[in-house]
Amino acid sequence: MIPRSKILIIAGSDSSGGAGIQADIKTVTALGGYAMTAVTAITAQNTTGVSSVVSTQPKEVEKQILFTCKDIKPDAIKIGMLNSSAIIFSVIKALKKVKNKKIVLDPVMVAKGGFKLINDKAIRTLREKLIARTQLITPNIPEAEVLTKIKINNVEDMIYAANILLKLGVKNILIKGGHRNSKIMSDVFLNNQELRIFKNKKIKTKNTHGTGCTLSSAIATFLGCGKTLNKSCELGIKYVNQSIRSNLNYGKGQGPINHLSSIKIKRNYK
Ligand SMILES: Nc1ncnc2c1ncn2[C@@H]1O[C@H](COP(=O)(O)OP(=O)(O)OP(=O)(O)O)[C@@H](O)[C@H]1O
Ligand SMILES: [Mg+2]
Repeated sequence: MIPRSKILIIAGSDSSGGAGIQADIKTVTALGGYAMTAVTAITAQNTTGVSSVVSTQPKEVEKQILFTCKDIKPDAIKIGMLNSSAIIFSVIKALKKVKNKKIVLDPVMVAKGGFKLINDKAIRTLREKLIARTQLITPNIPEAEVLTKIKINNVEDMIYAANILLKLGVKNILIKGGHRNSKIMSDVFLNNQELRIFKNKKIKTKNTHGTGCTLSSAIATFLGCGKTLNKSCELGIKYVNQSIRSNLNYGKGQGPINHLSSIKIKRNYK
């Protein structure tokens, strides 16, 4: 097939391949898109945890975005981990020049295993300077708590938090429910016109590393090929659900999901 959309991914590398830029590239590819990248950091990690994080020079992040987009124009942009204030400012500067409005921001702060990936100053810059410039943000519950400064215990709290984010100038919000201890996973979508709650049965597995990165990249891929935001969220959640369900069980810790769940290999490559 020929790619249906061209996606620029601005995110950190996960050496274990389950999350970060590796998950993003696999997702975009598995959903029929063409992936381009600007690497913001390099992490050494595996399914049991993160051992180190090294940031890219802010100027280099800006250069990757500008030089890439000058040549191949993306249809949508996914932003993942930006782990310093300086990197966030360089991304904002570059995006002003790229002028693409289809930006999905996954405000990554903490890895699944609990490792804090970005510092407090970066969180402030993200909240005050970046979130309102994007089309959609996709915080998980702990991230929504940090951004809104409220405690989230149930779906009503998620809706309340999404309303606070609307007031901060965010256009569309999808608060992911993966961290709630509940039999039903509820993801709350809110903008000025509508509230939609996506519900799925919780799949019993420890292998959910990278679900958030995968979801935001899937949404960006669908947005890039012209689907509405609402439909892109619906299809993105469906893809993540199917990829968790296939339960690879790689590694000793929280293993990756199966990004190939959408693909069939042609007979002549078997
Ligand atoms: N066990 C599960 N069963 C079904 N859906 C799940 C499960 N865990 C997470 N999800 C779904 O996966 C998506 C991502 O949510 P989650 O809250 O896990 O993101 P995240 O914490 O940012 O992930 P990560 O940072 O590890 O990539 C959501 O649509 C959520 O409902
Ligand atoms: Mg996440």
